[in-house]
Amino acid sequence: MSLIQRRERALAPSYQLFYDEPINLVRGKDVWVFDNEGRRYLDCYNNVPSVGHCHPRVVAAITEQVATLNTHTRYLHEGVVRLAERLGHKLGGNLSACWLVCSGTEANDLAIEVARTVTGHHGVIVTEDSYHGNSSLVRLLSTEIYPRADRPDWLEVIEAPNIYRGPHLANEPEVGRLYADMVSVATERLTERGFGTAALLVDSSWDSNGVLIAPDDYLNLAAGHVHSAGGLVISDEVQSGYCRLGDYWWGHQKYALVPDMVTMGKPMGAGHPVAACVTTPSIAERFADRRSYFNTFGGNPVSAAAANAVIDVIDDEQLLTNVTVTGHLLEKGLHELAERHPIIGNVQGSGLFYGLDLVSDPDTKQPLSADDTRGIVTDLKRSGLLTGVTGPSNNVLKIRPPLTFNADHATTALETINAALASRI
Ligand SMILES: Cc1ncc(COP(=O)(O)O)c(C=O)c1O
Repeated sequence: MSLIQRRERALAPSYQLFYDEPINLVRGKDVWVFDNEGRRYLDCYNNVPSVGHCHPRVVAAITEQVATLNTHTRYLHEGVVRLAERLGHKLGGNLSACWLVCSGTEANDLAIEVARTVTGHHGVIVTEDSYHGNSSLVRLLSTEIYPRADRPDWLEVIEAPNIYRGPHLANEPEVGRLYADMVSVATERLTERGFGTAALLVDSSWDSNGVLIAPDDYLNLAAGHVHSAGGLVISDEVQSGYCRLGDYWWGHQKYALVPDMVTMGKPMGAGHPVAACVTTPSIAERFADRRSYFNTFGGNPVSAAAANAVIDVIDDEQLLTNVTVTGHLLEKGLHELAERHPIIGNVQGSGLFYGLDLVSDPDTKQPLSADDTRGIVTDLKRSGLLTGVTGPSNNVLKIRPPLTFNADHATTALETINAALASRI
């Protein structure tokens, strides 16, 4: 029996495989992954191996700690405390009270629980086509994964700030305010329905919306409306954090937003499951007055060792600078491709995170069909480049390599995408 057949029998059918011709990856090194036939792929998709696949310092840190001791947060441990201190330091301002958990879902679940407890309100605001995780609470905040009719009445859903194909476009005056006004309306509706506003939960890379850059003033104006309604702003940095967008460590810093809470996960442990929710001491104390929190695996010393090693590598290898510099090259190259290939309707994103909004007609911006977009991703895979698909119409080619991606890798990626698009004509 083939591995695919065994997988279909043994794993629940809700799991999906990437690619029409799935790949069996057996090894990874930096930005490269290798399949069971020895074929090499340039990884332009995976953000979880943030500092590159199997970075020796992360491997060594995990190995050493797992061979020494692994317990939980109910004992004193230098590595665990050091990690929480460092996250607070990276976030700056007053964000210094940290809960360590195992996944982005858990971090968001806890953040909503904290927001509801501390504000006394129940309503939550998220964007259309959002993804924030999949617990029974957080899946309701992931509007891309379930039918509109099933939305709970304590949820308000706003348009994502898509200035290429959303209701307000880049050339409109005060476009940031227009999108932020939707948040104001959402708070009013939650008040009318008796829920009030506990939180706005926002991913500042808008990954599931096609990887967006919002108008500069949007998030701060939106935050103002949430605060006026007595709610908290939660920045979901699972995608946008850890230098991903270039110039800053966190996506919210790109917009000069000071959130009340930050959640993070994926890149934190370079593949090891570690995530966090960080807030201000005052919010954390008000929550602790009413609730205790314990998570058996969250914040164990091995996870902390992995997460500390990732921060060490980012700092010592100056990966924030690398993301910014390589990101500029990649972005420039993608814009050049867009001039050559009208199928690229828009280049969206920054740093090492881009979405190419593909169109079948550049004038009407008709999204390329999901099948055709998947076909391009398959062609790229056959040419040794791993990418993905995102966006509400599944027409956005997603490029999101490890943070160690350099100029040579960018050139290879651009040449491969150019060849794949040229061969379609
Ligand atoms: C923005 C965002 N938040 C939260 C999550 C959930 O993280 P996890 O899969 O670790 O639960 C994801 C996962 O894709 C995500 O993209």
